[in-house]
Amino acid sequence: MPKVTFINADGTRVRVEAPMGETVLELAHEHGINLEGACEGSMACSTCHVIVENGFYESLEPPSEDEEDMLDLAFGLTLTSRLGCQITVTEDLDGLVLRVPTGSRNVLLG
Ligand code: FES
Repeated sequence: MPKVTFINADGTRVRVEAPMGETVLELAHEHGINLEGACEGSMACSTCHVIVENGFYESLEPPSEDEEDMLDLAFGLTLTSRLGCQITVTEDLDGLVLRVPTGSRNVLLG
């Protein structure tokens, strides 16, 4: 089974087994990672923002226009930012490392 590593905002790393077909958001929630996902994957928020750390960005399916629009609203956007609810685990993603940003817009606006 592919393995995915999350880097929490406090720098701790959590390496988990990632069942194929699950989204990164589902995976994060199963393992107690602090990734919000306020709209539960319907691309109506940007609180599931993750940063792809280790060269896997190019291996992912490119983001849709809707995803890019939501990412524009994400706090701390980077060149390898994605929405966690839009990344589906495949065999090719074995070794993926994802950083959870230190804040999200929802948190900052209270
Ligand atoms: Fe809202 Fe991903 S959970 S866009």
